[in-house]
Amino acid sequence: MFCTTLQKTEVWRLNFKNPVGIAAGFDKQGESIECLHNIGFGFVEIGSVTPKPQPGNEKPRVFRLDKDKAIINRYGFNSEGHDVVYNRIKYLKSKKGFTGIIGVNLGKNKDSKDPIDDYVQGIIKFGDVADYLVINISSPNTPGLRTWQRKEELQHLLETLVVARNNLPGAKKPPLLLKVAPDLTQQDRRDIADVILQDKCHIDGLVISNTTVERVRVLNSEHTKQEGGLSGKPLTHLATELIADMYRLTSGTIPIVGVGGIFSGQDAYEKILAGACLVQLYTSFAYHGPPIVTRIKRELDELVRQGYCVTELINNYV
Ligand SMILES: Cc1cc2nc3c(=O)[nH]c(=O)nc-3n(C[C@H](O)[C@H](O)[C@H](O)COP(=O)(O)O)c2cc1C
Repeated sequence: MFCTTLQKTEVWRLNFKNPVGIAAGFDKQGESIECLHNIGFGFVEIGSVTPKPQPGNEKPRVFRLDKDKAIINRYGFNSEGHDVVYNRIKYLKSKKGFTGIIGVNLGKNKDSKDPIDDYVQGIIKFGDVADYLVINISSPNTPGLRTWQRKEELQHLLETLVVARNNLPGAKKPPLLLKVAPDLTQQDRRDIADVILQDKCHIDGLVISNTTVERVRVLNSEHTKQEGGLSGKPLTHLATELIADMYRLTSGTIPIVGVGGIFSGQDAYEKILAGACLVQLYTSFAYHGPPIVTRIKRELDELVRQGYCVTELINNYV
């Protein structure tokens, strides 16, 4: 199994100093990695990064839904592109004393003629600096992106990407994760599980989940009608439920990074009970800043100290 004790988590032979990471989208260009580690995150996922630089959608493209503790965004992968972001990570990793875990979340260019190749390029580019790579096919803000979650498309995509990762030179081959949307039907979920359990499409982890295009419950703020992906409190249970489902459908064989509406240690703990071995946040950090990281870690610690072994809890849950 991949979970040992909570405060130090070992997954993919990486030692996470704690299981609470910053989700993709916060540091899209890899400019604040060290700072985010210093704040206390156990790992930092940067991106999404696209091969060529692109501006993303027109502003305004991000909206706070204060009363709902939520955000709607339609950034559309504003990215400085592979080369610039790669050089930043390379420089950081060459600095003495930096040992933090960096995940690189890969996107595709809006005008790409060959989306699969965009991801292949990302794997090749970041293969030697990323501790893990995430294939993001679940952003709602790039037209057509989510169709790569469909069975045949996903099969084709992953067959190619697994080969690209396996062919990377050197002994170090970063784990390949897939980030999925919360708006999946039962059939979609079964299809994804079927595909990722095949040897030739076998990925190393799932990131569950991206933002939702559903307006899952009554929202009370201004801007609720804005187009884009909704994150934060309204997403909490939707994401947890999907984690539990995918954990069950994959028989707990694929490590899950749980993300979506985590505002407290209890929220994080529920993701772990549902099957996640690591968690991430974005929206709660945007609302509450660095103190929430310390608080969530402390609360999680207290829940674990109440006497539970996380591995046992996960096994019991199944
Ligand atoms: C403003 C904003 C930008 C985001 N950009 C990305 C992105 O570029 N790539 C990605 O995979 N997820 C992106 N996300 C999704 C988050 O990584 C996360 O999956 C989602 O927000 C749910 O977590 P939360 O409720 O803690 O925010 C973004 C989220 C927000 C709020």
